[in-house]
Amino acid sequence: MQETGALFLFNGIFVGSMKSKEKNNIGVVIRKMTIADYNSLIALWKEGDIPYRPRGRDSKKNIRWQLQQPNCLYFIAEDEGKLVGAILGTHDGRKGWINRLIITSSYRQRGIAKRLVEEVEFCLEAIGINIVACLIEDWNVASMQVFKQFGYTKHTDILYFSKRKNITT
Ligand SMILES: CC(C)(COP(=O)(O)OP(=O)(O)OC[C@H]1O[C@@H](n2cnc3c(N)ncnc32)[C@H](O)[C@@H]1OP(=O)(O)O)[C@@H](O)C(=O)NCCC(=O)NCCS
Repeated sequence: MQETGALFLFNGIFVGSMKSKEKNNIGVVIRKMTIADYNSLIALWKEGDIPYRPRGRDSKKNIRWQLQQPNCLYFIAEDEGKLVGAILGTHDGRKGWINRLIITSSYRQRGIAKRLVEEVEFCLEAIGINIVACLIEDWNVASMQVFKQFGYTKHTDILYFSKRKNITT
């Protein structure tokens, strides 16, 4: 995604303006992630006990590559230069995906996750993608409650299958 002033382009196609560019009353700004945020993002994941793959898809090299992809919708929430939340949004051309939504514990319950999710949904809608999905581990009841609040429906008839080249990815 390329930024031209307050406008965003996917593969040269205008997809709208940054929905949450303005600071709101709690002083938190939502902006695109850059590779300079990498270490803070890892620290946030560690603090929140989010499992991540430092030698696989979450290595700095891989995140840098992901950030350069046209379907990359990685946003962070920042307060006075401190990274307080993040979301890894993406799409496969048919469906949008939300991954690794996290807010640092002292900033929770202030609507910041909602703003990050809305930012991804806004960018997806702008390119005509109107279905957004996320995978939630079965123990994460709080996250299920949050996504229900956001209007997401739980599917009990779908099981997740994956194929991995190796365990680190
Ligand atoms: C899940 C998480 C991202 C929510 O962040 P947040 O900024 O506190 O969420 P918001 O303040 O935007 O809340 C959104 C809605 O969910 C509700 N909510 C927030 N936390 C909740 C919880 N623990 N249990 C139930 N509802 C909750 C809020 O009340 C709000 O509803 P409202 O709009 O009716 O007021 C945050 O708790 C977190 O980082 N958890 C650890 C990481 C994680 O599990 N991520 C999800 C991976 S799928």
